[in-house]
Amino acid sequence: MNRNKVVLGLQWGDEGKGKVIDVLAGHFDLVVRCQGGANAGHTVVVEGRKTVLHLLPSGALHPAVTCVIGNGVVIDPLALQNELADLGPAGDDLRPRLRISDRAHLVLPCHKIIDRVAEELKGDNKVGTTQRGIGPCYSDKINRIGLRCGELIDEALFEKRLRILLAAADRQLAQIGDERLDIEAILAETLPPCRAMAPMVTDTVDFLHRQGRAKSVLFEGAQGSMLDIDFGTYPFVTSSNTGIGGVITGSGLSHQDVGEVIGIVKAYTTRVGAGPMPTELTNADGEALRTTGGEFGATTGRPRRCGWLDLVVVGYACRINGVDTIALTKLDVLSGRSELPVCVAYTVAGRRIETIPGRIEDLEGAEPVYETLPGWSEDLSSCRHFNDLPEAARRYVAFIEERVGVRVGWIGVGPGRDEVICR
Ligand code: IMP
Repeated sequence: MNRNKVVLGLQWGDEGKGKVIDVLAGHFDLVVRCQGGANAGHTVVVEGRKTVLHLLPSGALHPAVTCVIGNGVVIDPLALQNELADLGPAGDDLRPRLRISDRAHLVLPCHKIIDRVAEELKGDNKVGTTQRGIGPCYSDKINRIGLRCGELIDEALFEKRLRILLAAADRQLAQIGDERLDIEAILAETLPPCRAMAPMVTDTVDFLHRQGRAKSVLFEGAQGSMLDIDFGTYPFVTSSNTGIGGVITGSGLSHQDVGEVIGIVKAYTTRVGAGPMPTELTNADGEALRTTGGEFGATTGRPRRCGWLDLVVVGYACRINGVDTIALTKLDVLSGRSELPVCVAYTVAGRRIETIPGRIEDLEGAEPVYETLPGWSEDLSSCRHFNDLPEAARRYVAFIEERVGVRVGWIGVGPGRDEVICR
């Protein structure tokens, strides 16, 4: 097996991928983002300073790492410019080692407006998107009318195509509501950040192939398996493949380059936005998880819905992605509870199931079947070896391994880079 690794979220996003990737990134030559866009929010805490990355790969903060934004990512040029500026001198340091795929599609202001208007029209059926224009941009890609970063090479032609795309978006908005686009204002807002981005645009497929096996690659997933456009809780999902398939189609590397698949699992469950979540707690327990775990969206600041660990979700995500190792995050947040229920199956229409049903109505009606494990009172933040953990915490980890059939190789016991147990 090669030295490459893939990091994927196995729940509804926000599993703590940013920290795991940041810890790993320094050991790799390249960090590659393959799907999603500025809807992602990867939080990294270095020496007590919190940085949230949205579009930039988490290797950004490691000076020797080349960062690649692959063809499967949708890129908002304004958001990229702001994110680089927010990093200050680290942003200047990053520019020369940041490669942006010429095949990646551009998220434009019209996509963000359509995202908001389309959500408003859905009423009670809102997805609760991040309103970053992700769905409308991927729609244009699939509809074969999108604009790709590679077009930036010829600014006159780019502007011409941008005008055509904006005119089409304007017609779409006129059909669905009252809002119209100010095309000249959008051009004035969009062209400068596009120009700034142009020097970083590269044929990343060829670039990655030329790196060859001598270079090690860390693939950075965004969102989580349950938000996958095919395998997630459709229609309450994002608009990309968030799993192993998206890694391949979003980078141009093949299955032979994938290496070890690390699945990130939070020790409990959270979700932002609408859609079913069988183990959701709408009581004081849910509130306590939200407060102790700081469960507020890194991108939108929205409070996250919280609930007990759902091993039906985790088992399904391990199977569809071929997960080799689980990294369990935020185990410390569960300290101080006498008991910890863990969902091991659902009852759907009187029948026990241990997988995620395809029909959203079935998942909406699913009753979680819990097994209750003993809790622990100790603070875990100083534990650095598995045997430092209280017995009940070790049992919790072992229970996950037994039920899901995948080894837990990492355990997060606090937000800092060093607050990790490696087994
Ligand atoms: P969109 O990706 O903005 O279209 O949002 C679709 C759904 O995915 C919404 O429920 C969002 O809250 C959710 N979502 C998108 N990105 C993330 C993420 O990085 N973490 C958690 N949820 C996300």
